[in-house]
Amino acid sequence: MNILSVEHLTKVYGSGDTAVTALDDVSFSVEVGEFVAIIGSSGSGKSTLLHLMGGVERPTSGTVRLQGQDVFARTDEELAVFRRREVGLVYQFYNLIPVLDVVENITLPVLMDGREVNESRLKMLLEALGLTGRERALPNQLSGGQQQRVAIGRALMNAPAVVLADEPTGNLDSKNSTEIMRLLRASNRRLKQTLIVITHDEDIALMADRVIVIEDGRLVRDERRREPERTPRTVAPASVAGTGSFSPRGGAAYRPAHAAEGVR
Ligand SMILES: Nc1ncnc2c1ncn2[C@@H]1O[C@H](COP(=O)(O)OP(=O)(O)O)[C@@H](O)[C@H]1O
Ligand SMILES: [Mg+2]
Repeated sequence: MNILSVEHLTKVYGSGDTAVTALDDVSFSVEVGEFVAIIGSSGSGKSTLLHLMGGVERPTSGTVRLQGQDVFARTDEELAVFRRREVGLVYQFYNLIPVLDVVENITLPVLMDGREVNESRLKMLLEALGLTGRERALPNQLSGGQQQRVAIGRALMNAPAVVLADEPTGNLDSKNSTEIMRLLRASNRRLKQTLIVITHDEDIALMADRVIVIEDGRLVRDERRREPERTPRTVAPASVAGTGSFSPRGGAAYRPAHAAEGVR
């Protein structure tokens, strides 16, 4: 089932002589539960594409549909709510709030939405991400790898329609990079979390079901390496990178009311 479709997406920054076409007529669609890697050289338009898919910026032309709904038909206010509920963003530099602790950072999108925190999902995420015992730590008391795990927890807390990660391991050493990618892939496999990761790392791209290559703002290659797994959610979760594991049941009880109206 299709969850995301990008149709003739174009983004031009500036105008006249200084206009830059960052994205040029890009179209593709993503299946539920798919893990897609986006690669391409620096300045090719990858981050622009990610921001458009996440409703962070509006396109110059073209459309993005998530769960069948036109993302940019929304007002700016509706778009802010949409980003909080349906999109999980992970950046290279974590973007945590320095004065908030681990739990506060992870639950921020839920609290900003005025909803109650699902304690069992929170506990499941803390365990799966190896953050149990660090609940009250502030970001500057954590290693880079730990901070990125908090950012992943924040992205997953709302069970978003899609997680979008922009070079999530770009600031980490190889051991932490491997750990972060294992965790992201585990969320994709165990929680059936649709996942799109921008990377310049070939090993990471090889972990994905599919690799999309962007050059000069255009989609130049789209290779599906394997079908997204369609195993039932009841498959016993295996241990992840020596930490806990993502438990589908930890999130199953928690679906925001609006999600039931969608086409998921
Ligand atoms: N806010 C912006 N204003 C003007 N130009 C931008 C802006 N964001 C990106 N660009 C330009 O768009 C192009 C694509 O950038 P980007 O999407 O960040 O590429 P990538 O993530 O692949 O490195 C680049 O030429 C970049 O300079
Ligand atoms: Mg970029």
